[in-house]
Amino acid sequence: MEKKKEQWGSRLGFIFAAIGSAVGLGNIWRFPTVVGQNGGGAFVLVYLGMVFVVGIPVMLVEIALGRATQRNVVGVFKKLRPGTPWVRVGVLGVAAGFIILSFYSVIAGWSLAYIFKFLQGDFLHLSPSEIAQTFGDLVASPVTPILWQGLFLALTMGIVILGVARGIERWSKVLMPMLFMLLLILIARSLTLDGAREGVYWLLRPDFASINFDTVLTALGQVFFSLSLGMGAMITYGSYLSRREDIPKSAITIALADMAVAILAGLIIIPAVFAFGLDPESGPPLIYITLPAVFQNIPLGSFFGVLFFVLLSTAALTSAISLLEVVVAYWVGELKWSRTGATLLAGLGAFVLGIPSSLSNGVLADYTVAGFPFLDLMDALTANILLPLGGLLLVVFAGWVWGGKELVAAVEGEAGRFPLGGVWAVLVRWLLPLALAYILLSGLWPGS
Ligand code: PHE
Repeated sequence: MEKKKEQWGSRLGFIFAAIGSAVGLGNIWRFPTVVGQNGGGAFVLVYLGMVFVVGIPVMLVEIALGRATQRNVVGVFKKLRPGTPWVRVGVLGVAAGFIILSFYSVIAGWSLAYIFKFLQGDFLHLSPSEIAQTFGDLVASPVTPILWQGLFLALTMGIVILGVARGIERWSKVLMPMLFMLLLILIARSLTLDGAREGVYWLLRPDFASINFDTVLTALGQVFFSLSLGMGAMITYGSYLSRREDIPKSAITIALADMAVAILAGLIIIPAVFAFGLDPESGPPLIYITLPAVFQNIPLGSFFGVLFFVLLSTAALTSAISLLEVVVAYWVGELKWSRTGATLLAGLGAFVLGIPSSLSNGVLADYTVAGFPFLDLMDALTANILLPLGGLLLVVFAGWVWGGKELVAAVEGEAGRFPLGGVWAVLVRWLLPLALAYILLSGLWPGS
């Protein structure tokens, strides 16, 4: 006898959980970082365009696949094309989720540590270079960041163990509204700093000369990472969705919310960086070094510092939940493990796999692959290669293997509404496979 499949308790539950998955370190840590390294406004424009042309269409594919089959990312292929190599696309997704969770929890662990640093007033009266030193000491320590990473994973596991409606949905409904409130408070603070305007211009004014092929690949990777696409998170969340829900409306809501948070996070961070004459190109440590420097220079800075890192940790938590759920849903659905056992094992696995990422800022700093420290390597490997590759395979599968007339019908479900269904089907069958294959191949070709 099969147990009754878990389901979301309400439409809003799905929307909150899916936005929770999308909005995370990708928006608040990664987006300002890649915007900073890729010249500002022009990158933002390429990114936004790609959300509509690539992001939303791929998200529709994923949610529809999940809902039509009511299966996890591997189960989808086992059900639709059993015994074919397509099943490996699902396994690739699980692997990507696992790798992302491993380094993601390291960065989220730093964020938890920062909440306590601000509470203790550790940054008070430090100069920017002393703050950089404090960050360097934290991440270079062999033990402390690993403990924070473990704590973060323990929180994630605690929620996933509770299940879909009682754990993921309930907590998303509490954490997401809190996150939006924190964002608004921090924006009001950042935009009223003297000198913030220059940062706003830099973020929003496109300078097309700075766009090249790398920009396009980076923007594509950012779209997949930020919208949680290409590895089955949206397939998994879609599998808990009822046939009556309107998928196009949900996907657009999720994508717009994700975009809004990225832009708002940019509007918190970049103007503040400019107001204090710091460098927007400083890369991954941007928010961990420049922001404390900013917060220490404004009234009530420690308070805003605590708020910001609570915001970041919360956003990271709801995303990590979805990463873990992809693995757990697979093990529960296909291997018939218990949810608790699967969660504990996957969490522990991500913890162990995350240790080299954590140490790559300290004792392993000298070991780089193609110039990347281990953590940056895992980030680039997943965002720029595995996720777009997963997306490519998914659109080919949906458009050509599963596809045909069923495709639009799967999105429509019982709600029966999909105004641009015809255009979408053409995108999924023709434009996306070609464009994704082209970008991936040229992006990975050495020397191009
Ligand atoms: N979208 C999440 C973020 O922006 C990261 C993520 C990627 C989550 C892939 C799930 C799947 O932080």
